[in-house]
Formats: sequence, structure tokens, C-alpha cells
Amino acid sequence: MTISKKIETIIGQSSFIRKMFEEGARLKAEYGPENVFDFSLGNPNLPPPDKFEDVLRDTVLNSKPGDHGYMPNTGYPHVCAAIAATLSEEQGVAVDEKSVIMTVGAAGALNVTLKAILDPGDEVITPTPCFVEYGFYADNHGGSLVTVPSQQDFTLDLDALAAAINPKTKAVLINSPNNPTGQIYPEDSLNALGALLKEKSAALGRTIYLVSDEPYRKIVFDGVNVPSIFAAYDESIVATSYSKDLSVAGERIGFVAVSPTATCKQDLLNGMALTNRILGFVNAPALMQRVVARLQGICVDPSEYKRKRDLLCDGLADAGYEFIKSPGTFYLFPRSPIPDDVKFVQELQDELILVVPGTGFKGPGHFRIAFCVDDQTIVNAMPGFKKVMERYK
Ligand SMILES: Cc1ncc(COP(=O)(O)O)c(C=O)c1O
Repeated sequence: MTISKKIETIIGQSSFIRKMFEEGARLKAEYGPENVFDFSLGNPNLPPPDKFEDVLRDTVLNSKPGDHGYMPNTGYPHVCAAIAATLSEEQGVAVDEKSVIMTVGAAGALNVTLKAILDPGDEVITPTPCFVEYGFYADNHGGSLVTVPSQQDFTLDLDALAAAINPKTKAVLINSPNNPTGQIYPEDSLNALGALLKEKSAALGRTIYLVSDEPYRKIVFDGVNVPSIFAAYDESIVATSYSKDLSVAGERIGFVAVSPTATCKQDLLNGMALTNRILGFVNAPALMQRVVARLQGICVDPSEYKRKRDLLCDGLADAGYEFIKSPGTFYLFPRSPIPDDVKFVQELQDELILVVPGTGFKGPGHFRIAFCVDDQTIVNAMPGFKKVMERYK
């Protein structure tokens, strides 16, 4: 045995997803990539905004001695300050630069957070369907993920969340706008969740944190607003990145921010500065920190994703699919016409359409379509979507 039993087991368990990707690669090689409709990956297909290239070039051309060296583990103070100003507006609560720590993407932000707060055996509760990696992230730091079903429309089921909270609960982890459902949690439900966590923390005599993973905050449609998490609950933490809203997922730049009203704010920040270091990140990429500081308020055009969403939703509705029209993200999570979503996804694959079964997100009976693809891919895939649905009408 060359690797740990645990990692070997995880690799074994994810062999289904691996097989899907391998099958996708095989289909593309056999039929040509243009004839395979790949909706499987949440990799933004829009180019970064023009200003990103300009600022990147300018930042490189004007680099000074020391610009490529280490900086504080929390990031450059001027970068944290620029982000704190934007965050204050977004959250409607004044956030100071010391409450922001630059991280290696949202994934880095989540791992930094969980390592800082979890003791062995602690539980992190998350509503499902959820991002596949959460279970691994909790486990990375000695915790475990407890999943709680959402309502039919994928909004929070507060009763189910309340029932899941117990003396081992250390955090509730939410993701809105949500991957894979595209749903956004309304303000009243976040306020109710904040009130619930306050009450439960008092009853249990320990702080339950609310961690909000929000890399899709700016990818929203039809004028909907993503409510503030800091306003909803004092003991809250925002983990996010520029991966999706600047289309720079490979550059690994994000941040974590602690609510200005968190009781143990300084302890949390001290803990996160340390965990950023000892997880081996040390600090977020220096060049990208300097770039994003100059791109506050810049975002890819969400109307591009809205057009793709509408094209997809119109076609699927016409074909007889049932779904909630995503108010944000670039994901749609339709209902599979048969309970066995894995089988249905296989049937779509036979039509050269690659999507991910909902089971992978703890949302069985559904499948995820990542519509961050060319419009033409959506148009060309429609006959296949229709053909498979015809069997179940
Ligand atoms: C819900 C969610 N959280 C976190 C991440 C990780 O983001 P990043 O690439 O910025 O680490 C993703 C990426 O797809 C995501 O969908």
C-alpha cells in the first residue's frame, strides 16, 4: 500500500465521477469535442472582464522590488482594505481591513475557517443538495459533515436544521447562490437562521458559527439580491473568491472575512492567520492579490449567463423537464423523470450530453447542468434532451 487507506477509499468512492469524466474524454476523442455537449464542469466559460487583462499587465509592468516575496499571512494590508470597503457596502455593515484574510480561492477560505474552528468530533451542518467537497473539507480538520435536506424549492428547511443541531455542532455551512441548485436564500430565512443559531448557541453554551460560502454572490439575475450574512447573525464568517465573478478560477484568489460583531473576532482572525500558514498556503498568490484590489466592483456580465439560462430553461421546459429557474449561478438542477438519476444521466450521455447526477450532490432524483458553455452547445444539445425525455412522457 503506497497511499493512506483513507485516501485510497475516497479515490475508490469517487470512481463513478472519474469514470464519467473519462467517458466524456473518450466521447470527445471519438466524436469530436464539438459534437459532445459537456455541461459537467463549473468552469466559467466567459473570458475575464477586459479590465482584468489591463490591470494584470499594468501590475506586472510596475512591480517593485519585494513584490514577489512573502507578505503577512493574512495578505497585503492595502488589498484587505480595498476588499473591506467593498464588503462593507455589500453586507451593509462596516467591515475593517483587519477582518479580511486573503486566501487561495473559496476552497482555501473554507479550509482555513474549518481548521481554525473545529475540534475533533465537531460537526458541520449543511443543507442539501450541496457542493461535493464540503464533506472532505470538514474531514480534513477532524470534523464531520452532517447533511440536512432543504425544502422542495431548495430553500432552507429551518425545522430540519434546528433538529440537527446538537452539542457537537460547531458550524452551519450555507452556500447561496447555491451550487448545484442555483437557489438564493431569502433574507427572512437567513434572519430566522441567525435567530435559531443564537438561541441554540445560548442553550448549548457554545458558539455555533454560520459560515457563508458565496463565490456566486455576483452572478445573479432579474434584479434579485443576495442578502447580507453579517446582518443576519453576529457569529458569521464569509468565505468567497473571484473564481466565478472574474472568471479566474485557476488563479486561486479569494478571501475569508469575519463579522465585525463576532464575539471572539480577534481569536478567530488570529486562528485563521495561523491556519492559512500551517495548511501550507502561507499566503494567497501575491500578484493576484494586487490585481483584485484594483478590480473591486468589476464582474463578468451576469446577463451573459442569464441569456444562457433562459435559452436552456425555455428549451427544457418545452421538452417537458421540471426545474426551478435558477435566480443565480450558472447551474440548473432539473428533476430527473425517473428516480434513478444515475441511469437518466447515462441515457443523456448516450446522446453525447454530459451532466452530473444529483446523487453526487446529495440531491438524488435530479441532475446538474452547468450552463457556463457556448450558447450553441445549449442549442445543439436540445434535440438530445428532448429525445431522452420522450421515453418518460
Ligand atoms: C459552492 C462552491 N464553493 C467553493 C468552491 C471553490 O471555489 P474556488 O475555486 O474559488 O476555490 C466552488 C467551486 O466550484 C463552489 O461551487
